[in-house]
Amino acid sequence: MRIKNISVFTSFGTFLVLLIIVSFHVQTKAADGDDQNAGRWSRSDRVYIVYMGSAAVSSTSSDDLSSLKDDHAQLLSSVRTRKPNAVVYTYKHGFSGFAARLSNEEARSIAEKPGVVSVFPDPLLKLHTTHSWDFLKYQTALKIDSNLNSKTTDRVSSVTTTDGSDTIIGILDTGIWPESESFNDKDTGPVPSRWKGTCMKSHDFNSSNCNRKLIGARFYNTSESDGTTEIDSPRDTLGHGSHVAGTAAGTAIPGASYYGVAAGTAIGGSPGSRIAMYKVCSDGGCRGSDILAAFDDAIADGVDVLSLSLGSASWSAPELSNDPIAIGAFHAVEQGIAVVCSAGNGGPYPETVVNVAPWILTVGATTIDRDFESDVLLGGGKVIKGRGINFSKLEKLPVYPLVYALSAGTHDANELSARNCEVNSMEAEKIKGKIVLCDTGGDSSRNGQIDTVKSLGGVGVIFQVEHPGVAAGTYVALPATIISVKDGQEILSYINSTSQRTCIRHKEHSQGKPAGFSFPIPNFPRKENTNISNVVCLQPDIAAPGVNILAPWKGNDTSVALEGQDPPRFNILSGTSMACPHVSGIAATVKSQNPTWSPSAIRSAIITTASQTNNLGIPFTTEKNSTATPYDYGAGEVTTTGPLQPGLVYETETVDYLNYLCYYGYDLSKIKTISRTVPKEFTCPKDSNADYISNINYPSIAISNFNGKESKNVTRKVTNVAGDGETVFSATVDAPSGLTVKVIPEKLQFSKNNQKLSYQVVFSPTTSSPKEDMFGSVTWTNGKYRVRSPFVIDI
Ligand SMILES: *[C@@H]1O[C@H](CO)[C@@H](O)[C@H](O)[C@H]1NC(C)=O
Ligand SMILES: *[C@@H]1O[C@H](CO)[C@@H](O)[C@H](O)[C@H]1NC(C)=O
Ligand SMILES: *[C@@H]1O[C@H](CO)[C@@H](O)[C@H](O)[C@H]1NC(C)=O
Ligand SMILES: *[C@@H]1O[C@H](CO)[C@@H](O)[C@H](O)[C@H]1NC(C)=O
Ligand SMILES: *[C@@H]1O[C@H](CO)[C@@H](O)[C@H](O)[C@H]1NC(C)=O
Ligand SMILES: *[C@@H]1O[C@H](CO)[C@@H](O)[C@H](O)[C@H]1NC(C)=O
Ligand SMILES: *[C@@H]1O[C@H](CO)[C@@H](O)[C@H](O)[C@H]1NC(C)=O
Ligand SMILES: *[C@@H]1O[C@H](CO)[C@@H](O)[C@H](O)[C@H]1NC(C)=O
Repeated sequence: MRIKNISVFTSFGTFLVLLIIVSFHVQTKAADGDDQNAGRWSRSDRVYIVYMGSAAVSSTSSDDLSSLKDDHAQLLSSVRTRKPNAVVYTYKHGFSGFAARLSNEEARSIAEKPGVVSVFPDPLLKLHTTHSWDFLKYQTALKIDSNLNSKTTDRVSSVTTTDGSDTIIGILDTGIWPESESFNDKDTGPVPSRWKGTCMKSHDFNSSNCNRKLIGARFYNTSESDGTTEIDSPRDTLGHGSHVAGTAAGTAIPGASYYGVAAGTAIGGSPGSRIAMYKVCSDGGCRGSDILAAFDDAIADGVDVLSLSLGSASWSAPELSNDPIAIGAFHAVEQGIAVVCSAGNGGPYPETVVNVAPWILTVGATTIDRDFESDVLLGGGKVIKGRGINFSKLEKLPVYPLVYALSAGTHDANELSARNCEVNSMEAEKIKGKIVLCDTGGDSSRNGQIDTVKSLGGVGVIFQVEHPGVAAGTYVALPATIISVKDGQEILSYINSTSQRTCIRHKEHSQGKPAGFSFPIPNFPRKENTNISNVVCLQPDIAAPGVNILAPWKGNDTSVALEGQDPPRFNILSGTSMACPHVSGIAATVKSQNPTWSPSAIRSAIITTASQTNNLGIPFTTEKNSTATPYDYGAGEVTTTGPLQPGLVYETETVDYLNYLCYYGYDLSKIKTISRTVPKEFTCPKDSNADYISNINYPSIAISNFNGKESKNVTRKVTNVAGDGETVFSATVDAPSGLTVKVIPEKLQFSKNNQKLSYQVVFSPTTSSPKEDMFGSVTWTNGKYRVRSPFVIDI
């Protein structure tokens, strides 16, 4: 487990990634001693989040707690008295604290007050793009392969004994398009009576937009300071939230497609679950203060599962104490709500996983067995593989002359602008009737580039990019494809040769073909910051389909409409944003079958039943075709039937999380402020090191500082949920060379249901100088169930 962060993760790399931008406004001198402004917030004030843990909202009252309650009330009222209107939010259901406009000095002084855990500037989880929003819009407006989804459904959910109809999935995202048929309530029973949420009203949204499927919709707005144009409404003006909600719990819609592409049935992971949308993101990003307000509301509203396809960028990951997702999730989990988050799109680079706090179920992405190949055919039969979704109006593989944008540059054009196919940088007569090879870089938006080429009379575009990735782009203006820079070199030499003619051939791989494209998008775990320097927990926990996913879209998006056609009702997107709601849906189904299970039992069921092979039964490989490791996919790809009946579960208890907080550096008094359920006898271990954290009762195992000299051992405790009372589970170990792994005892004899038994795993080196991290697994079986825990040994 490590420190995690926040933002909307759609698409990999250059695509939609919201990250936290903590803007360091320079405090102007005017703020100090600004007498005429006394009692008001001044321009130099900014929003700070004052986090005061949950002790003050706890229902159990002791002297300690009531004094904390007083601290909270006093602090809040002193801020209110000094600064009317400064308080933006008061958090009071799931945890306690507030968000308010404060000066630097005020924030600093509040941080010293009793009962305050942390005070931090309101972070903005933002779209992580060097490209314009226009690019983002187009890219995230990507599409979803309906066939993909139906295949996903086949693969991931071939057996549903329950459709999760009594569970409520809360989604923090960009809002929802309630008219989408995926949110109809035709076959849905009455709204669960425990639901206490609401359907907020605005000029384009009212209670009649909610129904038995979409049972709640709230919006938050601290957006005025962001200069964004977001409307005050739960309505989704971006599309992302509708897409995610449809993937988590959309009703089955046969015949869904994006203009015929990816046709099939669009269906959510838990089609019977109810949806509650909490709109915390706008095109400017997602405010931490809004996210915390949504957690606070969702806890009071009565959701069962929370799904967050957002986070910070890995490079701006905040400390645990300043991380609104980690904080909100802690309190949600403490109150029995499972929290599922996307791991971010930072891969394939190491240590880019975010949302890694051990109480969160962190989801990476895999591809599905479908790909949108758009190849470039050169003269002489040479085929260069590319990726792009086909909306070609070119008939029958026509052949066109090819030109490199650089050599079509105007005489006064900047070389870089020409290579990037920017406006006013290329000569129309050199482009007209040709397929143009463009570089991508800087702020250029691919759809902007395509528009530019089209305006000059070009007929197609080939983009050469450093990391082509696996997600196909939707380009509606001209046929286009993405290839690697390496392949681009080949095209360049080809252009230098005589014939110079080419075409782009699109093919959508269909179900019949053995594709085997299901490999993970690598998401390496982030090793901890300076204070926490070891791998103490394996992240991501699990992977789920996240590439080219078809799901509902906002209904009025002309920017992704084919010329002359109505806006699409479904769209295809890629990213861990899309993977996360698959798992949220499955978590809801597990909860529905096992209503008493804790979030950690649900997570355990999902992790221990994951698959390590793709749809062809072949072990997962990475994008580079090397064998994938748990660093790439956690425990593996989620399955849908396995988690419903896992046999054994690892229950991670509050004390485990408190130990993590000790390890993180909090003292006992802070921990007592944070958590409402600190056992009386709890103290932080004196030697709270990484080895200690390896013993958190987590369904996966991570060992750090393994040096080849000494053994390490960890303890785990499993709960028998096999349902047959008496049963015997035996351990099998898959260990890499260089390592001996011993499980003690090798058999666990359960005499009744829900009995808990412990075991130890001893990891001993067989070589004195292990060279690289090692991976393996411990699996318990009783003939009927297979309960697998992956392990990683960090050296
Ligand atoms: C909700 O909005 C719709 C469309 O604007 C309108 O027809 C309907 O009367 C409104 N319902 C309520 C309860 O305000
Ligand atoms: C959103 O902001 C507007 C203008 O600042 C305000 O009138 C409205 O009440 C706010 N809505 C919510 C839900 O906070
Ligand atoms: C193509 O030809 C140009 C000029 O003739 C030369 O500068 C360039 O290096 C050549 N490119 C390749 C990839 O051969
Ligand atoms: C693109 O897709 C359309 C519709 O599926 C198909 O008719 C057309 O042949 C395809 N174009 C190419 C060049 O593959
Ligand atoms: C789509 O609907 C939203 C919300 O009502 C509105 O703000 C936006 O302007 C609409 N866009 C178009 C292209 O009509
Ligand atoms: C990936 O590796 C396997 C075995 O190492 C090989 O058979 C296969 O052809 C490779 N695939 C690609 C696309 O390179
Ligand atoms: C982290 O380390 C820095 C010094 O490297 C120290 O100042 C800080 O207090 C430490 N934080 C925690 C949470 O231990
Ligand atoms: C594992 O570690 C525990 C605690 O350090 C110790 O009590 C136990 O004997 C160890 N077990 C083995 C097999 O080394």
